[in-house]
Amino acid sequence: MTVSETESAVPVDASAYREAMSRLASAVHLITTDGPGGRAGFTASAVCSVSDAPPTLLVCVNRAASAYAPLIRNGALCVNTLGEGHETVAGLFGGRTPMDERFAAGTWRRLGSGAPALTDALVSFDCRIVERHAVGSHDVLYCAVEAVAAAGQADALLYSERRYRTLPRAPRGGSAPAEPARGARAIGARPPEGPVLALRSA
Ligand SMILES: Cc1cc2nc3c(=O)[nH]c(=O)nc-3n(C[C@H](O)[C@H](O)[C@H](O)COP(=O)(O)O)c2cc1C
Repeated sequence: MTVSETESAVPVDASAYREAMSRLASAVHLITTDGPGGRAGFTASAVCSVSDAPPTLLVCVNRAASAYAPLIRNGALCVNTLGEGHETVAGLFGGRTPMDERFAAGTWRRLGSGAPALTDALVSFDCRIVERHAVGSHDVLYCAVEAVAAAGQADALLYSERRYRTLPRAPRGGSAPAEPARGARAIGARPPEGPVLALRSA
């Protein structure tokens, strides 16, 4: 290790950790729920795929969030991945806005769990919460994906350095070019156009 590497190290308190994490570019999602615990939702970047066998993802939620109790009581949620043009709704679901005002900013349908699915989300994952672990201030919710709907055709919305940004979609049709447009790196072939809906058979 060189001296300059040592000098650039920052002690890892909560604020240094938050600052470091702000460098990561993340997809932005609305996590929604409805049922006996009431309708609720919040903006989240802490969403990650766990497994495709069976299809499982995780969501990290602050136990102090107003959506926490409804999520746990309902045992179901929908992960709605946002695109360009969703900055306002992302801000509303990002806290301190009454739930009715948050949901008034979008149009919704239901896919099976009862959780609201944003009609123009890039993709919606309708889920049952199957397990949860408390870690620090947050719970990690493990979610079985029971249905997937994709309708939105917008560029992806990212959150990076505490700002919303967009990632252009890969060019339509054919295989990805060797040098993707505007600096975006394409990974594999893009999925077919148009809405797709996958429902779990069991
Ligand atoms: C871009 C962005 C990403 C966020 N990601 C998360 C997250 O992954 N988990 C979480 O618990 N809160 C996250 N938050 C914060 C919640 O959206 C917000 O604090 C939450 O809605 C609590 O506010 P409320 O109690 O007024 O509903 C994020 C906020 C923004 C703006």
